[in-house]
Amino acid sequence: MLKGRHLIEPYDFSVQELDEIFDLADQMIDRPRDYLDVCKGMVMATLFYEPSTRTRFSFETAMLRLGGQIIGFDDPNTSSAAKGETLADTIRTIAGYADVAVIRHPREGTAKLAAKYTGMPVINAGDGGHQHPTQTLTDLLTIRHFLAGFENKTVGVCGDLKFGRTIHSLVRAMARYQNTRFIMISPDELKMPSYVLDDLIDGSYQETSNLEEAIGEVDVLYMSRVQKERFVSEEEYLRLKDFFILDREKMKLARRDMIVMHPLPRVNEIAEEVDSDPRAVYFEQARLGMFVRMALITKLLGV
Ligand code: NCD
Repeated sequence: MLKGRHLIEPYDFSVQELDEIFDLADQMIDRPRDYLDVCKGMVMATLFYEPSTRTRFSFETAMLRLGGQIIGFDDPNTSSAAKGETLADTIRTIAGYADVAVIRHPREGTAKLAAKYTGMPVINAGDGGHQHPTQTLTDLLTIRHFLAGFENKTVGVCGDLKFGRTIHSLVRAMARYQNTRFIMISPDELKMPSYVLDDLIDGSYQETSNLEEAIGEVDVLYMSRVQKERFVSEEEYLRLKDFFILDREKMKLARRDMIVMHPLPRVNEIAEEVDSDPRAVYFEQARLGMFVRMALITKLLGV
């Protein structure tokens, strides 16, 4: 039963529960009109303490397409946080108004903390450099769509593996499927944190800084932006930001049946010339994210 649950980390839901969400998302893609009213009379709150385009808009659009209503803020300076209100008090108040809350915060662990103070379902929409489970739902649905399943896949994650929360969540989620291999592609300074690697089976991953060498092996190449806002030193960011740029030349080395994903926003790491390559699915990935969030909201509200 997903009704009333929180989603803080990708592990919070079993593989079977994820399949239920993906099956419902598929039905919603096929017959969106059947779901126009399922959340009528319900309210979703979006508490965004950090910038966002896709995540907030896709959540809000998802609720609107289900017939529900939305409240929220995208600038904490316009909320009582600016007056010094604690998160615990904010979430307890919001729980009196809304049926489900979506929260994004620059500090790791914030969504988990918020969930402790309320019985209303809380969805983590990104907590600092830690986790981003609904991006992972989006990513998994995309993989299922384009590669027809999750088993026996080689997943290359490339870019900022240190701070990239979408990558931390995706790797943890994909590790649960049979025979997943990972190639962690990053500069030395931005390697995958040990708390993610420690959970992986020995021998199921390799680390490299050479994208050209790795690209021919992968079913999924998951590109990511260097996370400027999480750097202490601007100089270090500038030195690393263009370490990998995926372009047409490098795509020639990739398999014909692979896909290129990216959570977006893109900065420089994928040249625009790659967008017209049929293997580049990142804008479709963003669209699928709305459907998977529709399915998630429906399940958590139990409607
Ligand atoms: C990501 C995020 O916020 O972590 N964006 C998103 O939600 N689609 C990726 C990023 O900001 O680089």
